[in-house]
Amino acid sequence: MCGIVGYTGPRRAVPILLGGLAKLEYRGYDSAGIAVLEDGVIKVHKQAGKLAGLAEKLQGYNGQARTGIGHTRWATHGRPSDTNAHPHIDCSGRFAVVHNGIIENYLELREWLGSQGHQFTSETDTEVLPHLVEHFYRGDLVEAVCRVVEHIRGSYAMVVLSADEPEKLVAVRQDSPLVVGLGQGENFLASDIPALLAHTRRTYILDDGEMAVLTPEEVRIFNRSGEPVEKRVFEVKWEAAQAEKNGFAHFMLKEIHEQPRALRDTLKGRLAGDDSAVVLKELEIDDQKLRSLRKIFITACGTAYHAGLVGKYVIEQLARVPVEVDIASEFRYRQPLIDEDTLVIVISQSGETADTLAALREARRLGAPVLAVTNVVDSSIAREADHVLYTWAGPEIAVASTKAYTTQLVAMYLIALHLAAVRGTITLEERRAIIKELKQLDSRAELILGNGHLIKDLARIYGRAEDVFFIGRGLDHAVALEGSLKLKEISYIHAEAYAAGELKHGTLALIEKGVPVVALATQKNLFEKTLSNIKEVKARDATVIALAMEGQKELEKVADHVLYIPPTNPVLAPVLAVIPLQLLAYQMAVVRGCDVDQPRNLAKSVTVE
Ligand code: F6R
Repeated sequence: MCGIVGYTGPRRAVPILLGGLAKLEYRGYDSAGIAVLEDGVIKVHKQAGKLAGLAEKLQGYNGQARTGIGHTRWATHGRPSDTNAHPHIDCSGRFAVVHNGIIENYLELREWLGSQGHQFTSETDTEVLPHLVEHFYRGDLVEAVCRVVEHIRGSYAMVVLSADEPEKLVAVRQDSPLVVGLGQGENFLASDIPALLAHTRRTYILDDGEMAVLTPEEVRIFNRSGEPVEKRVFEVKWEAAQAEKNGFAHFMLKEIHEQPRALRDTLKGRLAGDDSAVVLKELEIDDQKLRSLRKIFITACGTAYHAGLVGKYVIEQLARVPVEVDIASEFRYRQPLIDEDTLVIVISQSGETADTLAALREARRLGAPVLAVTNVVDSSIAREADHVLYTWAGPEIAVASTKAYTTQLVAMYLIALHLAAVRGTITLEERRAIIKELKQLDSRAELILGNGHLIKDLARIYGRAEDVFFIGRGLDHAVALEGSLKLKEISYIHAEAYAAGELKHGTLALIEKGVPVVALATQKNLFEKTLSNIKEVKARDATVIALAMEGQKELEKVADHVLYIPPTNPVLAPVLAVIPLQLLAYQMAVVRGCDVDQPRNLAKSVTVE
């Protein structure tokens, strides 16, 4: 959700800023811009559209600027346009600002600044920031930015460049991520680590309310009260190559194929040698407390919410605790009935999603312990939760989440098995059987990926469909929701997911000749029921693509196509069942010529409400 970069040092700033933005484009790609300081003057280059447009415009540009800031935008206030693109500058042209987040009181501030003679050119909330800096500047940029912070409300990560104080960047964060990259005689800023990896692995992850002041020689950090802060250096362990496409046509396809490895990594070190138990060192809640839990809430957004739906089935089934799953943006405002005997689990790939972070804070305010399941070490959600279970999916760059989802499912299984063991709700033998199957998910996922060509063929046939329905019962319904979200977000095909038994209560009216219906039937105990629902849509001339475990041959008599996943314990089937659906969405988007990794209107990591 908007990417920010900054550089100050001895090298030419423009290529460094553009290189950093290229690694952050997944955060927003409506427009891009940079501001650099050249011969004491701030020069701004920005335009609507993807970064490639700006890079092309700047080709051959050989300005010698050594300090600058850059931005790639996901529009919130003001449509994508050249003028609304960041950086924004003040009337005097001496201050430039890039910002991620929303300044909630910008209308009020704009009016007030207008009455002081400031003129605005864009429709954005951000534009008040450079004007405020100008208003408060008395020869000290740090002091001016502190004054600005006192006057703004909302969420922000912002970086300020000033012509009056060259070779300096001042950055602050509140509810939007910002990372400092520590170099030798040069320093960097970015919204996310991939933008820094070409230059350094040593970072400071800023906390809310912190300010960073960068010069080529040093980085100073201050807290909200202006006191210096001793930051711990966070050394990035993963390789830059993990954030590259490695020969795949798109990040999404690469990430789908990384799932066997991601599943293995997420299980690593978390299973007892004899498969008798799950070892969750991260969950430091004592067993007595886990036994007395009266309820579990899972809250998350989008794909992570879908992982939570699977979590509900699995935890209720194995650990016999009531689980409520809530969309984070709803949870935070609906006065949820939780107390200290409730465990709240928040799930977030990025660890930065604003709604999920707010839900976490609300849960803690109400006294519930919070367990975060996240993929990003030291993310805001990881830092604010009481307990963290990391999914080791590795960096996920494609906007559509794939490997993060399947590793979130693994996290749900681990939590469910642990709770079940502590609460004595399943036998050792049952636990062993599930754990054995859990360990084989990676090789079974490989088998599905090896049959990817079957799905490519289906995408060729159905890639031009206008509507697609997904149906399933129980866990299959949860996976159907995820399959349908994947398809709509990257192929722009209208897709809907229904509990298979619910279709006849209204939606069946939309089924007509040739409409593709993806029917999930992996759950043995529900197979007959789902088969009847498949017959209902077939009777209305739908085209059925069925998805089941190997051996369900009856489907071939009814469905137009059948995709099989290797047999596994039905409880674990979602991890395998979703893979063909991810591939189907991907291949259909490719057939339609869509921008798979950067679908329209979306961004990875939604750090605004
Ligand atoms: C869809 C997708 C989104 C995210 C959602 C939450 O493919 O990726 O629905 O799942 O925005 O993001 P995180 O998990 O980062 O909190």
